[in-house]
Amino acid sequence: MDLGLRGKVALVAASSKGLGRAVATELAREGAALTLCARGEKVLQATAAAIRTEIGAPVLAVAADVTRPAEIRRLVAAAMGQFGRIDILVTNAGGPPFGTFLDHDEQAWQKALDLNLLSVVHLCREVVPHMKAQKGGRIINITSFAVKQPAHGLILSSMAKAAVIGLAREMANELAPFNILVNNVLPGVFLTDRYLELSRARAERLGMTLEAFMTKRVEEIPLGRGGRTEEFAPLVAFLASEKATYITGATIQIDGGLIRTLL
Ligand SMILES: NC(=O)c1ccc[n+]([C@@H]2O[C@H](COP(=O)([O-])OP(=O)(O)OC[C@H]3O[C@@H](n4cnc5c(N)ncnc54)[C@H](OP(=O)(O)O)[C@@H]3O)[C@@H](O)[C@H]2O)c1
Repeated sequence: MDLGLRGKVALVAASSKGLGRAVATELAREGAALTLCARGEKVLQATAAAIRTEIGAPVLAVAADVTRPAEIRRLVAAAMGQFGRIDILVTNAGGPPFGTFLDHDEQAWQKALDLNLLSVVHLCREVVPHMKAQKGGRIINITSFAVKQPAHGLILSSMAKAAVIGLAREMANELAPFNILVNNVLPGVFLTDRYLELSRARAERLGMTLEAFMTKRVEEIPLGRGGRTEEFAPLVAFLASEKATYITGATIQIDGGLIRTLL
């Protein structure tokens, strides 16, 4: 299927590793030009170089922290300066620390909101005016299975990412007249650095080895394994594509069956 992404321009936030990197790579493979960002310059530049070499796609890499509005402004200005448009915005970030309600101090709650909710607001605030001027665009928010099915120790993540769903639903209505489609994807368990880090914290809290914890975790997944990042990325590419012109305001899980709800 030709996704019609050749010549499109994408900004994928938090994309030097993990899910963000996989999404950026998939979009590049489908013919999009990319702007990537992350805080760590070295890994970011290495990722950009790998995508340029493997795929030959135009890639701009900008070191930026998505919790800082001024850095988001600089990021979006750089992307516009380089490519002149942004057709696809993938909002993504790292995840907040493991812990239960009373473990987190005032600062931790604010940091989680800055990282996983307000980063989406600030990215969209900068990009949407350009999409409106272009008369179209796609916004895809990477959130978490935890917005549908709470998981022990992920309270900061559930809190901030659930709010993104509300934000996106309102934005989908407001932006539909401008042909800007807004959707959310909910990853389940994907084998990334973030997943390993969280699993270590959860295993320690439960007094288990990392291996024992990970074995127990995959037993909860009907498909019997964690996902590979390259299994995640095509869903985002599809939502960004010319084949997905009638999907907006949707929240789509990709989790090997992990979420047990009916809807
Ligand atoms: N993996 C899973 O199973 C899973 C499941 C559900 C939800 N999620 C969510 O999906 C998102 C991505 O997770 P992942 O597993 O792909 O994580 P990951 O492998 O640790 O990658 C995170 C990426 O985000 C960048 N990043 C982190 N904080 C940032 C910031 N403040 N500003 C800019 N870039 C930042 C990192 O680079 P720098 O550190 O250099 O900035 C890195 O490129 C997270 O919100 C996570 O909670 C993941």
